[in-house]
Amino acid sequence: MDKEAMAAVLLLFISALVRSNAEEPFDVREHLSTVSRYDVVKEISDNSFVPSNIPDQCSPIHLNLLARHGMRAPTKRRIKEMDDLSKRIEVLLQDAKERELDLQKVPAWLWGWKSPWKGRFKGGELIREGEEELYNLAIRIRDKFPQLFNEDYHPDVYPIKATQIPRAAASAVAFGMGLFSGRGKLGRGHHRAFAVSSESQASDICLRFHDCCQRYKDFRKSQEPTVHKLKKPILDEITNALVQRYGLNFTRQDTSSLWFLCKEEASLLNITDQACALFTPSEVLLLEWADDLEMFILKGYGNALNYRMGVPLLEDVVQAMEQAIKANEEERAPGSYENARMRFAHAETLVPFSCLIGLFLERSEFEKIRKEQPLELPPKPPQRRNWRGSTVAPFAGNNMLVLYSCPNESSNKYFGQVLHNEHPVPMPGCGNSDFCPFEVFKERIVAPHLKHDYNTICNLKIEEPKRMPLTTPHEKVVKSLGSEPRAAPGPQRKKETPHQNHKACVKEILERMGNPKKLCGCRRGACYGRWGGGGVVVVVGGDGLWRWEK
Ligand SMILES: *[C@@H]1O[C@H](CO)[C@@H](O)[C@H](O)[C@H]1NC(C)=O
Ligand SMILES: *[C@@H]1O[C@H](CO)[C@@H](O)[C@H](O)[C@H]1NC(C)=O
Ligand SMILES: *[C@@H]1O[C@H](CO)[C@@H](O)[C@H](O)[C@H]1NC(C)=O
Repeated sequence: MDKEAMAAVLLLFISALVRSNAEEPFDVREHLSTVSRYDVVKEISDNSFVPSNIPDQCSPIHLNLLARHGMRAPTKRRIKEMDDLSKRIEVLLQDAKERELDLQKVPAWLWGWKSPWKGRFKGGELIREGEEELYNLAIRIRDKFPQLFNEDYHPDVYPIKATQIPRAAASAVAFGMGLFSGRGKLGRGHHRAFAVSSESQASDICLRFHDCCQRYKDFRKSQEPTVHKLKKPILDEITNALVQRYGLNFTRQDTSSLWFLCKEEASLLNITDQACALFTPSEVLLLEWADDLEMFILKGYGNALNYRMGVPLLEDVVQAMEQAIKANEEERAPGSYENARMRFAHAETLVPFSCLIGLFLERSEFEKIRKEQPLELPPKPPQRRNWRGSTVAPFAGNNMLVLYSCPNESSNKYFGQVLHNEHPVPMPGCGNSDFCPFEVFKERIVAPHLKHDYNTICNLKIEEPKRMPLTTPHEKVVKSLGSEPRAAPGPQRKKETPHQNHKACVKEILERMGNPKKLCGCRRGACYGRWGGGGVVVVVGGDGLWRWEK
């Protein structure tokens, strides 16, 4: 090597060093929106926020936890998408060969690539790494709040709730195994058995409110074109870039699938040099933003319905805090009151809950929300934004409201501290503090939401005719107080011809309604389906007309 070349190499080396000192190297694993691994994103927090100093006389008396399930395998639908992608890649490579294109540009891993989930027919389960996320979280929480977790296990002292979805229930178990490890007599880990309770999926308005809320389901469906339209230009731009870069004729769908593959590889398998390496950092930032926009519109501040339907959960949380205050005031003996209420659910639960307590808003947005004004979409990169899927709801993402009692000579004062992913975060509704007097929390943050009632929010609105698939404009909604549906009175009734049998009735309900949770069947010439919880009964008369009853 001559001197000049040597100097050039040195220069390159030095400039690389300088660059890496100047800015953190880009780590794609920090930009995977809600597919982020917890330990990768946990420490990313808003450095400019200074948490409150909690006064010495304060001690925690209760903890409300809401956690998303940990890392999960791709769902069945996604497994199929990956199998399709594998076939598509084969076709693209074959096509490029036939057209005698320059194959130099094609990344080596694409040749013969098969989906890592090929041949699997079941998906969506909590994977081992996901178990660890929850197990370790529990141990950290126990260490951080020894005052709360030194009681003997009792289901009323440490209630653990999960949705009926297995990955959430398994997450609760993983958490409990961590929380009570060393506290029992089972096995070498000295485990303690504990209970995880679940509401029926059809009526779980605390943790799966989105699933019981028909208006939300309708809204979500109606927003699909909006989300698609927002994502399209981003995907198109990146697709064009990929086609140029790799000489393969990728489509928008391919780009979307490759981004999904990137997220799963990077998060679940810790592989970042395959699908993720197809994209430049700025493309990754755009794809991440597109995912965050979708979360904003379908689960977040994009529509008040998204979070208002979480009111039953908010009520449950506040009720737990009030009971803890009461027990504290009554100076009840330890072990005779609840120390922590722990809930394990989904992004569809954690994201709305974070919105209910007003987290991750930009400046001045809290006032807008109070005045029920719409918010702007989160700004496009490189502008910074608070609304990030990787922070709001990564795998095992969690929110804790810790209730503190701060006695002084004359009285007790109660404060709630909010921790998101174990870090104190500002509550715009409480002067941007993470440590909020309980009365202020209740009045400023909670009370405005409690004006809304779940059933009113979620039931099909009678005043909105376009939501009622009536076949004639004259048809009236029938209301009755009884739980059993009644056929329409008067002449309408005569028009109805009884359904032949239960099966025909079920078929008709399914065709018209999608999927009511409990199919009740056919009675008195009318066919009806019912959603659990909400108590909405939909009657399909033999005349093909619709009625709602409450
Ligand atoms: C590339 O794909 C597009 C859309 O699938 C198609 O219309 C076009 O003919 C393809 N081009 C080549 C050269 O295969
Ligand atoms: C993921 O890979 C990186 C290097 O590529 C390594 O440093 C890290 O420890 C790995 N993480 C896990 C959880 O395996
Ligand atoms: C104790 O609490 C009362 C009531 O909130 C308050 O007025 C008083 O200033 C507090 N005293 C001290 C020493 O903090």
